[in-house]
Amino acid sequence: MSIIISPSILSCDFANVQRDVEMINSSDADWFHVDVMDGVFVPNISFGFPVISAVKRHAKKPLDVHLMIANPDAYVEEFKKAGADMLTVHYEACTHLHRTIQNIKSHGMMAGVALNPHTSIELLDDIIEDLDLVLIMSVNPGFGGQKFIKNTIYKVEQLANLIHKKGSRAKIEVDGGVNLETGALLVKAGADALVAGNFIFNAKNPKQAISDLKNL
Ligand code: DX5
Ligand code: ZN
Repeated sequence: MSIIISPSILSCDFANVQRDVEMINSSDADWFHVDVMDGVFVPNISFGFPVISAVKRHAKKPLDVHLMIANPDAYVEEFKKAGADMLTVHYEACTHLHRTIQNIKSHGMMAGVALNPHTSIELLDDIIEDLDLVLIMSVNPGFGGQKFIKNTIYKVEQLANLIHKKGSRAKIEVDGGVNLETGALLVKAGADALVAGNFIFNAKNPKQAISDLKNL
């Protein structure tokens, strides 16, 4: 099966969101990666519901929404209304993670958990069977354009083993510093989905950059 590509609209041109959404519609990409930052869980603020709803109006592919926010439970229903198809919360932001995952699923969305670079795969041992997606952060969340943390390769291998051992159907997605070089290593290690922001939107030909990732 070919790799899933999820371009991060955090790196798009916000004065031309519709143009960039249509570029992704007509590309080999599979999902739209939507980064929500609250200035509390991460030291940056991105965008909220009105922007997500606007993207949804034009998007012809599922919205993969990555919440970098404190207290995500309070907003699950509203993210569904805004158009999220997949909702990923951070392990580090959820005291009652099992409850949060059930809440996301009860709203008809795929449920994901994101792990910061310092958070160990072993901590998913008792929740992996409930997850549709695990998002491994290969940078510290908060900004696009950062350098890939190499230990991520080891974490992807560990997670692939855990998923196999438990018979989970969770997909492995990786986010941060993805390019053709790091992407190839991630695919080899067992990643199912790659997020890419700068690599795609700073390319001379973004559609070609998406195809190049897709064909890794
Ligand atoms: C970082 C975000 C990423 C970011 C990736 O906190 O979660 O999705 O947009 O951007 P690049 O691919 O430029 O590292
Ligand atoms: Zn992200």
